[in-house]
Amino acid sequence: MSKGHKILEKNINLMAIFIVIVISIGGAVEILPLIFSSDARTPIEGIEPYPPLQLAGREIYIREGCYGCHSQMIRPFRSETERYGPYSVAGESVYDRPFQWGSKRTGPDLARVGGRYSDDWHRVHLINPRDVVPESNMPGYPWLLDAEIDSELIQRKMRALQALGDPYSDEQIAGATSEVDGKTEMDALIAYLQGLGLARSGR
Ligand code: HEC
Repeated sequence: MSKGHKILEKNINLMAIFIVIVISIGGAVEILPLIFSSDARTPIEGIEPYPPLQLAGREIYIREGCYGCHSQMIRPFRSETERYGPYSVAGESVYDRPFQWGSKRTGPDLARVGGRYSDDWHRVHLINPRDVVPESNMPGYPWLLDAEIDSELIQRKMRALQALGDPYSDEQIAGATSEVDGKTEMDALIAYLQGLGLARSGR
């Protein structure tokens, strides 16, 4: 053991300082490139801020805790890309606040579920999953049929996202009322699911 190493190992304060330095360098190497690389912040082609109805659906997805069983992150492994489609890239999630990455897969990954099933399939599945997948242990969400979307709330949300830099135009925000009025939470959630991953799945 070198002399310097001996001193370091016998002095806990010195060691603590060095540990902090080493961890800071490790952290910086991982974090800084993501802050400065435009790849991670530039939306890939076909990725736009969520239209009002999908945005409303996304709120419901988060409220209902779908994330607790479903990730939206396909890893670059053959077993994943063959099952779900092209792996996920950062530029897809630029407008996802908060993002839905993760590895919790009690149910399948949903990053490319858009267009895989019909709206009717989703409706039946979300009311009672066992009507279409008998062995499913996913809970049903029948109450989504009864609640209507509050367009004012969605407009406020769009304005907040606009302030954060999402390129919503004022016309889009004004038009949200006609897009979501009369729609149920079920309609919104299905619209959100049907939009997932289209930019990369080719559907
Ligand atoms: C307790 C865990 C659990 C929760 C919570 C959950 N799911 Fe699921 N989900 C599953 C399982 C397991 C499957 C696979 C069986 C099936 O299709 O029902 C599944 C399947 C799905 C599928 C079909 C995916 C595919 O590729 O076949 C969709 C879409 C889906 N869930 C949406 C949702 C949404 C939206 C929510 C929240 C409102 C939600 N899930 C909440 C467990 C869950």
